[in-house]
Amino acid sequence: MNHLSLTKIYSLNESDFTFKEFNISEIENGSVTWKTPSNIALVKYWGKREPQLPENASISFTLDACFTLTTLKFKKRSNSQSSFEVFFEGEKKDDFKPKIETFLKRIEQYVPFIKEFDFVIESRNSFPHSSGIASSASGMSALALCLMSLEKKINPDITNEYFNKKASFLARLGSGSACRSIEGELIVWGNHKEIEGSSNLFGVKFPYEIHTNFKNYHDTILLVDEGEKQVSSTVGHKLMYDHPFAEQRFKQANNHLGELVEVLKNGDLDSFVRIVESEALSLHAMMMTSNPYFILMKPNTLKIIHQIWAFREKTGSKICFTLDAGANVHVLYPENEKVDVNNFVVNKLIKYCQENHYICDRVGNGAKLVSNY
Ligand code: PMV
Repeated sequence: MNHLSLTKIYSLNESDFTFKEFNISEIENGSVTWKTPSNIALVKYWGKREPQLPENASISFTLDACFTLTTLKFKKRSNSQSSFEVFFEGEKKDDFKPKIETFLKRIEQYVPFIKEFDFVIESRNSFPHSSGIASSASGMSALALCLMSLEKKINPDITNEYFNKKASFLARLGSGSACRSIEGELIVWGNHKEIEGSSNLFGVKFPYEIHTNFKNYHDTILLVDEGEKQVSSTVGHKLMYDHPFAEQRFKQANNHLGELVEVLKNGDLDSFVRIVESEALSLHAMMMTSNPYFILMKPNTLKIIHQIWAFREKTGSKICFTLDAGANVHVLYPENEKVDVNNFVVNKLIKYCQENHYICDRVGNGAKLVSNY
């Protein structure tokens, strides 16, 4: 059985997550619910190799208002074939099953007990489904945490640290960025020489003191385009294989992260703005220079960026933007600017959003167990 002490946590490797012997005789059925957040990367992950290992280290703010709530109901398997059903926002969703099936197959060697159960997965997001906000990070981390709660019923000896690391490890196998959606407030994923304990296998909490400038940081998400993305991140990651600038990009991201480590400690907001915006534009530059090339920004994305630059120039604000793999703009700003920036967003930026939609979010503390029986 896995019984790992705290001292071993920092050197966990793949084999530490396999779970060979188990006894489920006392578990007939049950239900567990987790609420897990989305995250927004400051240094971006774009490019990976098998099995879901990042080409460069990344770091993200864990969010608060954008989350997924997932209930996993489990029942000891009755037939020879295990089965599962998926419900999203109350509706049965057979089209979600292939992705989950692939995930379950991929993680089976680490959680072999799942073959002994039938599952019903019920999920809903706090943000609109079609908002263009990726739900894979919060969705996959929620499912990983539910499965870890089941593992803990089978093996109550596992420590909280091991629980979180393995949840992150499993979530990573569902969607890379999902491994950064277990804890808060700042999570690093990927080996980085300046970050103690960092790993390609799972996300870890930023291990150093964070300057008060970054406490309660805000992220107002401007929903420029609420449609489905034209190019999925799976395809985007693959295009980094033969990308002419790939090696330079991976180096740049690791250098940015090294710089950001210092900035997060010393509170230098001008450097924060420079690194975060450069990361967002570099991510999109990779998309525009891949083969085939593509553009996910929309005209209104650029209009918002120019407005943000003009506002910063005029007021000395430390507001900045970042982008995901889509057209929406994440507007980041410190707590002490919340009134001024909110006014600016409402007066100048909302008109660029689809149906004036936007979400006021901020840095959060990570996933929460809602119920477990
Ligand atoms: O986790 P994926 O495969 O959806 O990739 C996400 C990549 C970005 O959101 C663009 C960047 C990141 O680090 O989150």
